[in-house]
Amino acid sequence: MSHQSDLIADDIEAYLKAQEEKSMLRFITCGSVDDGKSTLIGRLLYDSKMIFEDQLSALESDSKRLGTQGEEIDFALLVDGLAAEREQGITIDVAYRFFSTDKRKFIVADTPGHEQYTRNMATGASTADLAVLLIDARQGMLTQTRRHSFIASLLGIKNIILAVNKMDLVDYSQKVLTDIDAEYRDFAKDFGFRSIMTIPVSALKGDNILNASDNMPWYEGPTLMRHLEDIPVGDARQTADFRMPVQWVNRPNLDFRGFSGTIASGTVRVGDRIKALPSANESTVKSIVTYDGELEEAVAGEAITLCLADEIDISRGDVIAGKDNPPEVADQFEAKIIWMSDDQMLPGRPYLFKTANKMLPGLVTDLKHKVNVNTMEHTAAKQLELNEIGICTIALDSRIAFDPYNMNRETGSFIIIDRITNTTVGVGMIDYALRRASNIHWQALDVDKSARAEMKLQRPAVLWFTGLSGSGKSTIANVVEKRLFARGRHTYILDGDNVRHGLNQDLGFTDADRVENIRRVGEVAKLMVDSGLMVMTSFISPFKAERRMVHDLLDDGEFIEVYVDTPFEVCAERDPKGLYKKAKAGELKNFTGLDSPYEAPERADIHVSTDTLSAEECADTIIQYLEDNGYLSANGGS
Ligand code: ADX
Repeated sequence: MSHQSDLIADDIEAYLKAQEEKSMLRFITCGSVDDGKSTLIGRLLYDSKMIFEDQLSALESDSKRLGTQGEEIDFALLVDGLAAEREQGITIDVAYRFFSTDKRKFIVADTPGHEQYTRNMATGASTADLAVLLIDARQGMLTQTRRHSFIASLLGIKNIILAVNKMDLVDYSQKVLTDIDAEYRDFAKDFGFRSIMTIPVSALKGDNILNASDNMPWYEGPTLMRHLEDIPVGDARQTADFRMPVQWVNRPNLDFRGFSGTIASGTVRVGDRIKALPSANESTVKSIVTYDGELEEAVAGEAITLCLADEIDISRGDVIAGKDNPPEVADQFEAKIIWMSDDQMLPGRPYLFKTANKMLPGLVTDLKHKVNVNTMEHTAAKQLELNEIGICTIALDSRIAFDPYNMNRETGSFIIIDRITNTTVGVGMIDYALRRASNIHWQALDVDKSARAEMKLQRPAVLWFTGLSGSGKSTIANVVEKRLFARGRHTYILDGDNVRHGLNQDLGFTDADRVENIRRVGEVAKLMVDSGLMVMTSFISPFKAERRMVHDLLDDGEFIEVYVDTPFEVCAERDPKGLYKKAKAGELKNFTGLDSPYEAPERADIHVSTDTLSAEECADTIIQYLEDNGYLSANGGS
């Protein structure tokens, strides 16, 4: 098997040392099975002798049994490891493979080519230095070539190899190659690629993969492997400015305080002047501590603990950088987002944003447009679907240190996490900070919420009624308000139908509009609580995420969720506005409970059901809750 196996057997130390000192190239292969992608990777692994003997004999027997190459080895079988791929004949996930030659180590991410796998490609591309784009010589450039190039450039890949495959099927024609090369260069001229190398190959026959092909004497460039080995990539992470997101503050005893993390980019030396962000505090590096002892200098990828000359305040998630070229600090950005979830991205919905070591709540405030991944055209949109790419504005709850993605992939990217399911739903690349909000400060006012509440002798709060249309929310809220009013309380009702006549008259009933409806009502309710009122809101508010957002907008104890749990059939039977009838007849679209979802609360503070209780009885339950929890005591209970 491998030329390296003797070394592994004889002198494992020497082998490991040789491996350690080699440079590393991460690349991604793009194309579909039809282009011969799996065959190409299989060929690279086989020819570089990185297949182990047991794999090889399995491959030989599989080739005879399942292969498409007669008695010859079917290299595609080596790569298409997953059963589902074999059955469907497509590659379905990101598979990372490691191989090495005498000159270099390689990690190749093999991602599927179809449009529905854009997210897989983005995952593989985010750490790659180079992309091998496969083109079938008979077909030339296809839509997917454009898509892959666009995503590669979006993810910051700078080097492209255009592997024009199946040259054996076009009689090794030079003209085919030069035409494809010219067309591609023209297409890709604005993508910011540093290098494009077009190589004519036959993955199946091995032409120009490892060895120069006798079939194409006119081709004078490098073979695929030679180019992969020789291309200078000079790891961008190493040459970028120093950035270390702090993973934890290491303080085992009073004499030692260090900041631990993995260097995201650049180099740090003892004696360097540093700046911590967002605080902008400065100090000097006193020592660099690692498990193996102290270092004079450390580089990107190394896990270290930095000890500083001064006691400055740095917490987990802050970024330590060189004093003279620190990252920017902001809480609002324009960014490109690749959406990766079946649940659409809705502007206004709260998500968690995870940046280098920091997780914080935030919103996509606006979807400016989405980008068609095949044509690069911009189109207006209200939401992003799975695998779509959008240009968005983002507002985070607090300021973070960041770099534009094209300057630094580590500190310029983030992932988006769903707050309810805790799954990753998108990735983003920061373009620039939005400065607007930095000039708007919170104005401190002397008469504040507690002063206003005290004057009214009450404890302000929101009774947030949620439930289906016709469940009885407004009716119960009305009774509750009358009772509170009779007791001298200052109250207000925000009602769905009424608010939709004024403030929210521009909104309909799509998911996106409902999210915005509740976001605005949440903000208004917050202002009313700030003015000292007891507020009742009566909105279907069908999504957990937005109810939770309003909960988080308010202080502890100010959000009281009231679930008016009336079954769909009962609401449909009552049908006070005749809407269920219309919706069932197909005259009303997106009707809650029919063709638009309702996510019932799991732990509402108050749970009432109007199919067993009257509105008066439901109101009794609510007033009792307010009394039991101190909302109605004479001094306001606070
Ligand atoms: S929410 O979903 O965004 O919270 P909201 O409570 O403001 O809805 O408005 C719901 C009211 O609008 C319903 O009580 C009903 O009177 C009316 N309505 C009109 N069309 C629809 C629809 N497609 N789905 C639900 N309610 C609708």
